[in-house]
Amino acid sequence: SEVPAKDHFNRRLHDLRISVTDRCNFRCVYCMPKSIFDKDYAFLPHKDLLSFEEIELVAKQFVALGVEKIRLTGGEPLLRKNIEILIEQLARLRTPSGKAVEITLTTNGTLLPKKAKTLKDAGLSRVTVSLDAIDDVVFKRMNDVEFSVNQVLDGIQAAHEAGLGPIKVNMVVKGGMNDDQVLPMARHFKGTPHILRFIEYMDVGSSNGWKMDEVVPSARIVNMISQGLSQLQMLDANYTGEVAERWKYSDGSGEIGVISSVTQAFCKDCTRIRLSTEGKLYTCLFASKGHDLKPLIRSGDPVQGIEKGLQDAIRNLWAIRADRYSEIRTEHTAQPKDRIEMSYIGG
Ligand code: GTP
Ligand code: 5AD
Ligand code: SF4
Ligand code: SF4
Repeated sequence: SEVPAKDHFNRRLHDLRISVTDRCNFRCVYCMPKSIFDKDYAFLPHKDLLSFEEIELVAKQFVALGVEKIRLTGGEPLLRKNIEILIEQLARLRTPSGKAVEITLTTNGTLLPKKAKTLKDAGLSRVTVSLDAIDDVVFKRMNDVEFSVNQVLDGIQAAHEAGLGPIKVNMVVKGGMNDDQVLPMARHFKGTPHILRFIEYMDVGSSNGWKMDEVVPSARIVNMISQGLSQLQMLDANYTGEVAERWKYSDGSGEIGVISSVTQAFCKDCTRIRLSTEGKLYTCLFASKGHDLKPLIRSGDPVQGIEKGLQDAIRNLWAIRADRYSEIRTEHTAQPKDRIEMSYIGG
């Protein structure tokens, strides 16, 4: 009767994004700049991470409340040991109407050659792979740790062969850093089964030194591609609340997407909630405070009591949710304060 849960603006609770580690083998300039995420950075100690059993317990309550899609993120989710075991557990969950839940994962791709097949066998539906340039020099400048383009392309290929497609490739465009890669990237992926998506650089977290003039508006990207490469036509969204705006090449050689959280906010239909690695819930990517579920999870109460407590906590938190940060962003709010980092809460 109370499914699906609705928030203050009547948005339903549909997607759960779970961060499984706050660590990453990359140091992307827009996400984990080396100057801050150095050898002295205090990552979460192991005892603070939710165990797979604990994550499954929480995810199960979300599915009971209407969630139909779960995305695993990080940091780099494939750095979490035995992640396929968690995927197996999540793939067994069923919605109140008996459907399986879609399980996806966002990764930098470097561990896919080793893991793609295992992930598919465990029940993963799809992967999204981040790649910010097709030129090695530019890519190394973006990830800042000497990973090469070919390592990621091998990961995309492995995922494709394992049946984890159609693969979405995410490129964050940072003006002055990799905007000269928009056309080369589009050219590279045109005619492949992979869907390239351009993401506007966001003021998420407090450490990337975001400036509005480094954002390349999606409208400009669509123009660059339709004038410099090939004509584009807008497509309808696959579902309400889809984050990417879809465009197809008029010559039939596939589609691209643009994600415009700065120039065209999509809070109106935001159905996403985020669970941090240590068990805090965030109802917005730009939140500074989460709701800690760990005391309840580790209370030692009988499991039925914990399950009911979790459902009540989630329902109450969602009911009062009024987040719409990207719609009300101004030069003032965009100044870094105490916001959570994207590497902590996931992409
Ligand atoms: P699919 O349509 O299932 O592929 O999911 P998706 O479009 O949500 O893909 P993905 O999770 O890869 O999200 C792509 C990027 O969009 C993220 O890495 C973020 O940069 C951005 N994004 C996703 N969700 C939000 C959100 O709730 N708010 C904001 N501001 N940005 C978001
Ligand atoms: N702006 C936009 N997207 C970001 N991501 C991380 N930091 C940012 C940022 N500052 C997203 C990218 C990347 C995913 C892991 O997180 O989409 O592919
Ligand atoms: Fe790692 Fe992804 Fe952040 Fe890059 S964007 S540092 S790959 S979590
Ligand atoms: Fe959702 Fe917050 Fe992103 Fe808006 S800014 S789309 S409310 S996560």
